[in-house]
Amino acid sequence: MEIIPKLDDRLNEPLYLQLYAYFKREIELAGLPEQTRLPSIRYLADQLALSKTTVQMAYQQLLAEGYLESRPRSGYFVAKMDHPFLNPSAGSMSTIKPKQLNRTSEKATDIDFFMSSIDVGHFPLNAWRKCEQKLFEDPSAIGYGAYQGEANLRELLAGYLHRSRGVQCMPEQIVIAAGTPSILVLLYQLIDWKTGRIAMEDPGYQGVRRSLQKRPIQMVPISVEKDGLSIKELTHAPVDAVYITPSHQYPLGMVMPIANRIQLLDWAKKHARWIIEDDYDGEFRYRGKPIPSLQGVDEHNRVIYIGTFSKSLMPAIRISYMVLPPELLGTYRQLEWRQSASRLHQQTLALFMRSGQWEQHIRKMRTLYKKKQALLLNEIQSVMGDHCAVSGQDAGLHIVLHVKSKVPAAVLIKKAKSVGVLVYGVSAVRNKKEHQASILLGYGGLSTEEIKKGIQRLHQAWLHDYQ
Ligand SMILES: Cc1ncc(COP(=O)(O)O)c(C=O)c1O
Repeated sequence: MEIIPKLDDRLNEPLYLQLYAYFKREIELAGLPEQTRLPSIRYLADQLALSKTTVQMAYQQLLAEGYLESRPRSGYFVAKMDHPFLNPSAGSMSTIKPKQLNRTSEKATDIDFFMSSIDVGHFPLNAWRKCEQKLFEDPSAIGYGAYQGEANLRELLAGYLHRSRGVQCMPEQIVIAAGTPSILVLLYQLIDWKTGRIAMEDPGYQGVRRSLQKRPIQMVPISVEKDGLSIKELTHAPVDAVYITPSHQYPLGMVMPIANRIQLLDWAKKHARWIIEDDYDGEFRYRGKPIPSLQGVDEHNRVIYIGTFSKSLMPAIRISYMVLPPELLGTYRQLEWRQSASRLHQQTLALFMRSGQWEQHIRKMRTLYKKKQALLLNEIQSVMGDHCAVSGQDAGLHIVLHVKSKVPAAVLIKKAKSVGVLVYGVSAVRNKKEHQASILLGYGGLSTEEIKKGIQRLHQAWLHDYQ
């Protein structure tokens, strides 16, 4: 919540009384409805460049007069009024401006370290618009599209995936779909489930669980170790397939070494199992030697490669894809499944790729994200020092912050929220203890200023929780 009171330190009236009067007026006019949570003292003092004592005194006065109520460990809330002062419709919200809407609750928040946010400010809107305009030069563009996805896009994609990720495929093997969940639902129909079980990284991408939750299929959690999914554990699990993020494990961020990849491929070959390789942000690799996709080193056609344009281009486009091995391609054809990604977006994307701007955009964004990450790591080091360690920084758009604290991540996340910073936890099915104080920080969508401010606020919020 951003509060913009008019405070004037040239007036004779002390600042705390001006602040108190502001809140009182807003509450009476119902600009701040009952049960609204007020910003924490620390946060508001920071936001208004006041001392904490000034804010505290204003809040104390409001508490004493019954305008506010204080809830232990939750903060200050506008009290329930037996006799509302005015018709709420007379209220003025003009001084309360939501800066940014929260994705789920639509509550005003300040700095959101959401893992899937991208930098929207650097999207080449003009170039994209031109491609869109060009598209309509051909009236046939507005008819139904191809079942499997637009042929020109699949052809360009096959070339791009080969160059950038070592994927080996024909355009005919690529199936386009509107988002990764659609891909997973389709895949569910293609695989012959003998055991009815799929192995998943733990912690892993909850999108798989959500996409397949209504299907009669059991998810088998497999531990994630320092090199990614535990191959040893996997070999003891009777499953038909494994879903895995080897190039940037989601959410812990490690890259699976080539030796483990080979073991994984051997396992799949030996037991005729499927490997579902989700290469969701493979474009953004900052350190170390490039490791080709699993699909690229698989000689026995056991890998189903999945990718998305959500991180590399924009989530709104809803275009994801998979590369099917020949065996599953046959089953796919029999299904006659019509994919649901917009034909117009696919065609625009094809024009964008063909013009060379796609790979140019990727290069530009890689440099930009690398800079943002360097800034984030630098801020963490200089502000939090030895209180925190970082992992998962070799690729992608998020890192893992290990806070040296006995306090569980859930409490740290709550405290962060109270200073207007949204951060995220690692949801593991097992080994919860291990990830207790691990916090996920996505930086793709944040500005330099937000990153700096966010880390400072987190440090202030956790100051008393460090070990
Ligand atoms: C592991 C993983 N896979 C896939 C995706 C992309 O999903 P979609 O293509 O539905 O946007 C994400 C997005 O954050 C992700 O974290």
